Amino acid sequence: MTFRLTCRCFLVLRQLLAFKLRLEEHQLSRLWTCQPPPGSFLQGETLTLNWKHPTINYTEKCASCAKLREDATNFDKECNCSISFYLPQKMEGNVYLYYKLYGFYQNLYRYILSRSNIQLLGTDVKDVRNCAPFKTSDKGLPIAPCGAIANSLFNDTFVLLYNPDSSTQIEVPMMRTATAWWTDKYVKFQNPTYQNLSHAFEGTAKPPNWPKPVYELDEEDPRNNGFINDDFIVWMRTAAFPTFKKLHRRLHRIDNFTEGLPAGSYSFIINYNFPVSRFQGQKALVLSTLTWSGGSSLFLGLAYLVTGAVTLLAFFSMMAVHLKLKERKTFFLQ
Ligand SMILES: *[C@@H]1O[C@H](CO)[C@@H](O)[C@H](O)[C@H]1NC(C)=O
Ligand SMILES: *[C@@H]1O[C@H](CO)[C@@H](O)[C@H](O)[C@H]1NC(C)=O
Ligand SMILES: *[C@@H]1O[C@H](CO)[C@@H](O)[C@H](O)[C@H]1NC(C)=O
Ligand SMILES: *[C@@H]1O[C@H](CO)[C@@H](O)[C@H](O)[C@H]1NC(C)=O
Ligand SMILES: *[C@@H]1O[C@H](CO)[C@@H](O)[C@H](O)[C@H]1NC(C)=O
Repeated sequence: MTFRLTCRCFLVLRQLLAFKLRLEEHQLSRLWTCQPPPGSFLQGETLTLNWKHPTINYTEKCASCAKLREDATNFDKECNCSISFYLPQKMEGNVYLYYKLYGFYQNLYRYILSRSNIQLLGTDVKDVRNCAPFKTSDKGLPIAPCGAIANSLFNDTFVLLYNPDSSTQIEVPMMRTATAWWTDKYVKFQNPTYQNLSHAFEGTAKPPNWPKPVYELDEEDPRNNGFINDDFIVWMRTAAFPTFKKLHRRLHRIDNFTEGLPAGSYSFIINYNFPVSRFQGQKALVLSTLTWSGGSSLFLGLAYLVTGAVTLLAFFSMMAVHLKLKERKTFFLQ
């Protein structure tokens, strides 16, 4: 009961926050003024972006892929698309790549609850208690990781290419790790303690929407595989608003990119898997030198603190009421 009330509280707060964020996005979108230099070798399709947070909407640009994904029976057909853009100024320092979803309600009540925190702790990989409607596979095996959040894992993949001149293409090196919150990666998500991860998940099934099981999420890096895969953890931290961005990759500052991203021509090769047109959603990629906790974090932080305090207060008052009533009950019984 208290829990449910707290959830309600959160939902109301989230709505308020959403309003505030939308205002900020509106302000940001007015920064789009730069033009590509005349005679730039990439003409026509090239996008020119605001230099602070270049954002590339790719649902429309990849319309044929979006169309393909509308039909769920095409799930095994691959679809790539390429988007060229021009960065008018260099992005200095650390650069982060975010994906952004518009109109995806990761904050729905039933969706948020459809997960098993016990399972994700690695202590009991077969605990699927709260995971309806994704508890067990057709064959009756418990799903790992279970639940609607895990099953809907964002699965587009991206390659960023730098084109210093018309004949050269350099793949921009990106890092897959350290995108999740520290407490999530080292406290809330743990792999079962087994020598061999695939043995640890024996007797479980993969989520129905996943092409491969959880122990093959990153076979190259054991510290990024299974439940402690950063992409997975980032997705599992549900967003408060229907429009949200999530940290996906970090620029690996080596070779030509030690200073950051140089100005110039780039293209994204997008492996388009995640369907959004079914719910009139949109997808975008955002490059930024800020971590998400830059910018509007003060407001968000304060808001969370206040909710925390209010929740705690509610908890204690309800506890008091509960104890009072219990006392009276025992009194009557005597
Ligand atoms: C991207 O698409 C969303 C949703 O349609 C829209 O609100 C936003 O303004 C678009 N951004 C750009 C830069 O086109
Ligand atoms: C799509 O891109 C991926 C990764 O870059 C590549 O492995 C695959 O062959 C491409 N598929 C098509 C159909 O172009
Ligand atoms: C990607 O995710 C969608 C939605 O969860 C799913 O329908 C699709 O089968 C997945 N495709 C791949 C290649 O992972
Ligand atoms: C783990 O077990 C699987 C299946 O038994 C096997 O294919 C794989 O090679 C093993 N991996 C390691 C690192 O031992
Ligand atoms: C990028 O790095 C390669 C070697 O890694 C070098 O040959 C090339 O000149 C560099 N290009 C630019 C534009 O700095």
